[in-house]
Amino acid sequence: MPETLILTVNGEACTVTVAPRTQLAEVLRDHLDLTGTHLGCEQGVCGACTVIMNGKPVRSCITYAHTCDGAVIETIEGHRGDPVMDQLRDAFSRHHALQCGFCTPGMLATAHDIVTRFDAADEATIRHELSGNLCRCTGYVGIVGAISEVIAAKGATSAPPAPLRNVKPFTPFDPVEAAAVPAASAAPKGSVSTDGGWTVVKRSFALNHAPDAVWALFRDPARVAPCIPGATVDSLDAENFSGAVEIRFGPIRARFGGRGTYANDDNARAGSIRGEGNDKLGKSTVRGELRYAIAAGTNPQTSRAEVELRFEIDGMLAQFNRPELVTGFVNYILAQFAANCDAVLSGGEAGPAKRLSVFAMLWAVLKARFSR
Ligand code: FES
Ligand code: FES
Repeated sequence: MPETLILTVNGEACTVTVAPRTQLAEVLRDHLDLTGTHLGCEQGVCGACTVIMNGKPVRSCITYAHTCDGAVIETIEGHRGDPVMDQLRDAFSRHHALQCGFCTPGMLATAHDIVTRFDAADEATIRHELSGNLCRCTGYVGIVGAISEVIAAKGATSAPPAPLRNVKPFTPFDPVEAAAVPAASAAPKGSVSTDGGWTVVKRSFALNHAPDAVWALFRDPARVAPCIPGATVDSLDAENFSGAVEIRFGPIRARFGGRGTYANDDNARAGSIRGEGNDKLGKSTVRGELRYAIAAGTNPQTSRAEVELRFEIDGMLAQFNRPELVTGFVNYILAQFAANCDAVLSGGEAGPAKRLSVFAMLWAVLKARFSR
């Protein structure tokens, strides 16, 4: 059913009526004629479609328009009276930071965010921050030089050269606040959604053992970690852990090393793990929280696990924030995890982590598209 949205785009209020699943890029380009927002991959990878929404850069090709109701959006046609964007445009021009210009609107949106957030940044930092925007022409040297110059100019003045936008830094989950959020078991089954900058995956799956036995496994990180494909625990105490998760997805291989905390509630048979880590090779970071609860299954000898995973990935692997990829990836990992849990609870051992087939993933993505 069509939905009417009220947006403020480039300082002007507008009302658009769109079909469900319309992407923000489509609204900007086809409804508002703002064709400076370019579409490249349309899968959240290349960054060409990046615009600034409520002060944060977003991929308009994978942002559902219905989630933008009431949003304040700046596209490349906007930013009127914004000194940061004026300086960036000037610097891009002087540094020859564009050739065909296809990536430039998205580059400028991301550059604006970088300049806004950093008072000082070296080349490595700027390249890291830019890693979600691809350019086929320039080799990035001019782009990095232009951004570097604007940041340096900002640091050279006692006051910032532009009114800073309200970009909130990452805030770790507050345990008290988290406890107030409804348990995963109350959530709709099998959904993937976004909440602010977070990707939220909710899943429910069956295990062929009684709830008490399954909970005894889940509550013990040293026992359950080997069941998670690719996970290893390096150190562990009553609340904290450090370790790594290795992901193999076709040619992509990433090893996220990090640390976090965990807590269990034996009465509720529920718990949570919070942590963050980074992949040094792929220069990506991940932050997130996993909540889990074990409920009775269809008979006393079976259980149902309810899990809710919230995460945010920055850097080269940021495409894993995409719901379609996440859905296939999580389903694949959970299937291995459930099989490993059942094997361990039956007195056996968890199997080795398998490489995730790109073709299996693509098939899952295509299936999801066809079913839409
Ligand atoms: S078109 Fe949106 S990220 Fe490529
Ligand atoms: S200038 Fe051509 S893609 Fe970047």
